[in-house]
Order: sequence, then C-alpha cells, then structure tokens
Amino acid sequence: MKASAIAPANIAFIKYWGKADPITRVPQNNSVSMNLSDMYTTTTVEFSETYDQDSVSFVGEKVTKDHELRRVSRALDLIREKAGSNLYAKVVTKNTFPKATGIASSASGFASLAVAGFRALDVSLEEKELSLFCRALSGTACRSIPDGFVEWVAGSGPDDSFGKTIFDVDHWNICDVVAIVTTEMKKVSSTDGHAIADTSPFYEARMSGLNTKLASLKEAMRHRNFESFGRIIEAEALNMHAICLTSTPSLLYWSPTTVAVMKRVTQARQDGLACYYTIDAGPSVHVICSEDDSKDVLAILNNIEGVERAVVNRPCRGAHVSEEHLF
Ligand code: DP6
Repeated sequence: MKASAIAPANIAFIKYWGKADPITRVPQNNSVSMNLSDMYTTTTVEFSETYDQDSVSFVGEKVTKDHELRRVSRALDLIREKAGSNLYAKVVTKNTFPKATGIASSASGFASLAVAGFRALDVSLEEKELSLFCRALSGTACRSIPDGFVEWVAGSGPDDSFGKTIFDVDHWNICDVVAIVTTEMKKVSSTDGHAIADTSPFYEARMSGLNTKLASLKEAMRHRNFESFGRIIEAEALNMHAICLTSTPSLLYWSPTTVAVMKRVTQARQDGLACYYTIDAGPSVHVICSEDDSKDVLAILNNIEGVERAVVNRPCRGAHVSEEHLF
C-alpha cells in the first residue's frame, strides 16, 4: 500500500492564466511547456488502516501549513474516490527547489502525488486520464505527466482538457537555466491570481492574440528556430505579467532581483549571447538558451546580486513511479 513517484516541474512558454471554470480548472486557453530535468518532486504515499487521519510532511520543513494539508487531503479524497478506498494516507514529499517561488511546485507536487497515490492503491490509468485527473488538482500538474514538450489543450470541458506531448524529450536540446531569486513563499497564490485575471482591461486583447501566438510558437519549435521562439516566449511572459499588474487588485510577482536578471539577459543578448527569459507567477527567472550556451548563462546568472543559485534544466520525461521511498 506504499508507493513513490517523481514528477518534474515545467516551464510554460505560452502561459495558463485565467480559468474558464475554477472548480475543474479548465483553462481559458491552450498552454505549452517543457519539463524540467533538475527541478522535480519526489512523493511517497502510504494508505493504511493504522492511520486515523491524513498526514503530510515536506522533507526539510518542520510544519506543514494548514491550507497545504487541506489541498493535499482534498486530492487524496479524489484519489480514494476513484480507487474505491476509504483508507487514510501518510504523504511525504521532497522538492529539489524552493516551493511557491515561480517554479511550479504545485505542478510537480500534485503530479507526483497522483502517480504515487494511484500506484499505492493499485489503480492503473492511461496517460490521458492521469493528466485529466491532475488538471483538477492544479492546472499545471496536467503538463507534468507527459514527456518532453507538452501542450495542454484547453478543450471544451473537463473531459477533454489535458496535456499531451507535442515534441519528444530529444527533439530540441535547449536548456532552462533558472535563477532562483528567493526562497520566501509568494504572498498571492497563482490560484488567486487566475481568479482576477479577467479584471484586467487588457485580458481580452491577450485572448484575441493567443491562437496566432500559439501557432507561431509551435512552428518555431518544430523548426528549432531559436530566435523566433525566444522572441515569442519573452513577449508572452511580459504579456501575462501585464495582465497581473493591471488586475484588480494589482499583482506584482517580481522582486528587484527579478528585474535585474531581466535586464542582464537583455544585455547579454545585445552582446551576442542567444538567451531569452520567461517568468511564471513568482520572482524566479527562467532563462532559455542552447545547451552550448548554458555554461555561460549559468555563470552570468550566478554573478547577479540577489540570485541565490542558478540551475540548468534540460527537457525530460514526465511523471513516473520510483522505487525509492522517502519513508
Ligand atoms: C503562472 O497551476 O499554479 O505558472 O490551477 O490554480 O493550481 P492552479 O494554478 P497553477 O498556475 C500557474 C500558472 C503559471 C503559468 C503556467 O505555468 O502556465
């Protein structure tokens, strides 16, 4: 009744920002992401008659916050419901990176929880079903199930909104060098941010340009056209943050170091280094470059004051069962 799983975080090139339905987490638009090889979550789940309540702990943290426990417990309820079980569970989870700083810990966290939970209860699901299930736990988690580069198709409702591989792991050897800016947890969760996205006067403009942008991005990825790809993803990140800034209330996910990294990347590009940034709902900055340039980018990022550390990620497989248990 015990199982473990590993799931990667993912970085969005086209962002999910705004939901068509907040309960099922069906999004307003398709999004595209890449799995991150070195930023992942390992989760071990054990269901047992000896437990009289669910327990959740994060390795390296003494206390689990109430709202985190509630969200995991709700996810466990859905796993139990699907598996026809009424057993409580012990969950231990470990990230290779700080959570809630814009590195999609809810994606890798819930994807690993679902894969481990279903394995522990001996339920086997196809990739599509698993991705559909994860979407309802945390939208971006549905993109951490398939391998490589993933598109989450918004679909027309909860039964056809899921992530699928559009390019395999070895299609393109680009890197995401993540500048981790702070380990402090963000003040406004992305769930709360999604809920007010459409209060921005620019939200409609964002939506009207999205399909064209999506098609151009996939075309650039297909042909491995790095410059065209880079321009699109940087503009897209700024577009999403323009929505955040102009929502009511206004959301500013950046810190002074975030801005310093953005400026440094622009400078490096002017100096001839092909790199582009993107940012999720947090202060950390993801800098995308070729494998060959990743060492230079890493050195540049590690030299910026306020950057805690920088980590190189490559495209990788999606969530999978692991034989290494955390307890
Ligand atoms: C800013 O998946 O964290 O990272 O569905 O409410 O759990 P919930 O939101 P979440 O959304 C984060 C979105 C984003 C952009 C992206 O990754 O597409």
